[in-house]
Amino acid sequence: MESRGGFTSRLGFIAAAAGSAVGLGNIWRFPYEAGENGGAAFLFVYLVCMVLIGWPVMVGEIAIGRRANANPYGAYTSLGNRNWGLVGIWGILCGIMFLSAYNVVAGWAFGYFLGISFGDILSTENHGAFFGGYTADITDNFFYSLAFMTITGIIVLGGIQKGIEKAAKILMPILFVLLIGLIIYSLTLNNAMEGVKYYLIPDFSLITLETAYSALGQAFFSLSLGMGCLITYGSYIKKSENIIKAAGLVTITDTLVAFLAGLLIFPLVFSQGQSPTAGPGLVFVALPGIFADMGPVAGRIVGGSFFLLLCFAALTSTISLLEIPTTFLIEQKKWARKKVVALFAVLIFLISIPSMLSHGAVDFFSNFLYYEGRNKTFFDMVFDIFSDVGLPLGGFLMMVFILTRWKMYNLHEELAIGNETYPGSFMQKFMGILLTYICPILLLIMFIVTLKVKFF
Ligand code: PHE
Repeated sequence: MESRGGFTSRLGFIAAAAGSAVGLGNIWRFPYEAGENGGAAFLFVYLVCMVLIGWPVMVGEIAIGRRANANPYGAYTSLGNRNWGLVGIWGILCGIMFLSAYNVVAGWAFGYFLGISFGDILSTENHGAFFGGYTADITDNFFYSLAFMTITGIIVLGGIQKGIEKAAKILMPILFVLLIGLIIYSLTLNNAMEGVKYYLIPDFSLITLETAYSALGQAFFSLSLGMGCLITYGSYIKKSENIIKAAGLVTITDTLVAFLAGLLIFPLVFSQGQSPTAGPGLVFVALPGIFADMGPVAGRIVGGSFFLLLCFAALTSTISLLEIPTTFLIEQKKWARKKVVALFAVLIFLISIPSMLSHGAVDFFSNFLYYEGRNKTFFDMVFDIFSDVGLPLGGFLMMVFILTRWKMYNLHEELAIGNETYPGSFMQKFMGILLTYICPILLLIMFIVTLKVKFF
């Protein structure tokens, strides 16, 4: 078997893990979740979830990965046993299904980038209707998601150092620069301050159980937790790395990008007198109208940059998603990376077809489930099962694994490697409390609530 390789430096790991975390979740999903769930009130709960649950769960995943030096299945089997290996398999399955739906949205972003920069998307009259027609159009969707999957596959083919680490180091800084530039522009628009207020001044009466589980689901989605992505990436980092610090930096970067995306989008939406509760279409429907108003040249440049940014963010995430099953099969079957990447890229693309057809192209997938008056598409169902419910479940099972099988002292021991001052420190006590009590209890409650709300 080829040597496992690994990240060359701390920066390489941080860039790749932050690249995985920062994605459509931050720029596409976070603003519409926040918009639908009370703006600043959601932001507040979200920040609490990031610190109390997201960060420690990430620490746990990376530690398991580094200790086992293996893919999620291999890690749970070697530190636990074959039955625990099923938790790893569940994670890998979530990764595959998640990527199949995620890649569809990435395809839209890619199509919008091209259509705004070089086509005539900005000259359409009604952007809501246009987006509806766009996502229902099979040819475009098929082509752009295929293109996206192909680019992802090519980078993952390059392996950890030459593919993943390098791509992240180039793409992540560009993303920051683009984002800051766009925010400065959006804050100068009329009525922008209304958007800032909606986003930053919380009305605590808006915090409900729904805000809480949406925020937690969003935190898992956004930090790439619960499916073994960070077990996989963690298995490639050096022993000299301080895991708590690395996870902290990734959490902060991810939170910052989501926060900035909100700071970009709410002023834009309010400056147009639009509603922040537009749902998944928010970025695709609200923003092009705003870009169009900037005039043909400026609109193309600013709008094109925005969707390019979305593509970059999505790409560093699809790379990490494809790497999960890839590392798994390379290790378990000793197959060559080339063969495995080709296999999964094709397989996941095929699985993504029903999700692609869920937006009006085929009625069966567009009205996949009806219950209690709600209509779910196949695409919604994939995210409901394998993200909103599946990821907190994966996180909870990992906690149970750490507490009952691997044991906390082993985790603490791993965390002390690369961090001499850890044993006996305040940080050790803090992590201990979070991982032993706070995370498992909150995750279990949220898992049950989400399951109930989504399916019963
Ligand atoms: N965190 C990514 C995003 O916010 C999505 C993702 C989830 C990537 C899980 C990898 C693993 O878009």
